[in-house]
Amino acid sequence: MKNNFPIFQNNPDLVYLDSAATSLKPAPVILSEMEYYIKYSANIHRGLYQMSQIASDQYDQSRQIIADFINSQSNEIIFTSGTTASINLVAQTWGQQNIKSGDEIIITQMEHHSNLVPWQQLAKTKKAKLKYLPVTSDFLLDQKSLLKLITSKTKIVALAHVSNVLGTINPIKKIVQTIKKINPKTLVLVDGAQSVAHFPVDVVDLGVDFYAFSGHKLYGPTGIGVLYINQKIYSSMSPTSFGGGAIKEVFWHKTILGNPPFCYEPGTPPIAQAIALSQAIKFIQKIGWPKIIQQEQDLTNYLFQKLKTISDLKILGPTKSDQRLGVISFAFTKPKSPTPHDIGDILSQKFNIAVRTGFHCAMPLHQLFGFTTGTTRVSLGIYNTQKDIDKLIDALNHVIKIFS
Ligand code: ALA
Repeated sequence: MKNNFPIFQNNPDLVYLDSAATSLKPAPVILSEMEYYIKYSANIHRGLYQMSQIASDQYDQSRQIIADFINSQSNEIIFTSGTTASINLVAQTWGQQNIKSGDEIIITQMEHHSNLVPWQQLAKTKKAKLKYLPVTSDFLLDQKSLLKLITSKTKIVALAHVSNVLGTINPIKKIVQTIKKINPKTLVLVDGAQSVAHFPVDVVDLGVDFYAFSGHKLYGPTGIGVLYINQKIYSSMSPTSFGGGAIKEVFWHKTILGNPPFCYEPGTPPIAQAIALSQAIKFIQKIGWPKIIQQEQDLTNYLFQKLKTISDLKILGPTKSDQRLGVISFAFTKPKSPTPHDIGDILSQKFNIAVRTGFHCAMPLHQLFGFTTGTTRVSLGIYNTQKDIDKLIDALNHVIKIFS
């Protein structure tokens, strides 16, 4: 698998364990971006010449491939710059237009700042109430509390499909059913940043209204993201950002906007990135979900067992393999033991191992569990091997030795 990722030709000893931050890119994705700039580097939907036609066709096909990937329609796919931009787009359009004083917004205690701060700001400006669905001591969402939290005033529930700190896979379908049973008018937004690269997502089956994800965590390029909006929701929202490509007709004192998704994509979009994202999806499809899921689950179990052999190390996240993905955050519990910063530094300098350290954009969650200096996070991708894990464990034992 590593042969598919050119970065390993440059850096053969690299142990990359930070795929939750961004994944490495396979050759077809890199070549696709290059091909656009070398062969048909033109703007889309604006030129009658051949290069522009090719670019437009590739871009449109990419939207269709992405729509199929999550079982949606192509007019339900809005290209954004990433998950954060997708969530902000919902908060600043649908949210600004539909949330009133006294309404309720529910998020969970395990949200990434990108699915927390936009709602916090919206609640503040609208004088709405922001409520949190708790995380249990075994790192799962407290589904019983959901029954009490949802009321007739709940306008939206926004939650992660997979936690970027705990690795917890949230049972979205069941949660959506519970929410809609109590209040059918409540909309559900799912932050899919950490899920789409690891198991199939079917937005229709899940029953969600909005689903957001990034290209760069899906083995695709940076600068491209996706917002799925169930087309039934379009009538209750309108764009707040305007420009070329997003309109049908413009007069001196009035504008007729284009249909969604185009009216939400003003200006020249990230053309090369959108096209290359479809290559990332084809790459995943070529390997196939059963293989990806099995390999990642085996490796996660192996990592878990190995980490458990290290004393005084506390792991944040569920232990059962069907409740989690290969995102494992941990910290040493004894006083004077190495901090996440120490660990990350030594792992990088001495062993060429890349992990993430700190709060992973989830500060309140770390505080909830008393990890005030953060954690070290190991996150897996399809290029990881048992050898990578063995190197990590040896390196961690080396860090412990230095500090003792
Ligand atoms: N959201 C990314 C992470 O969890 C950057 O590391």
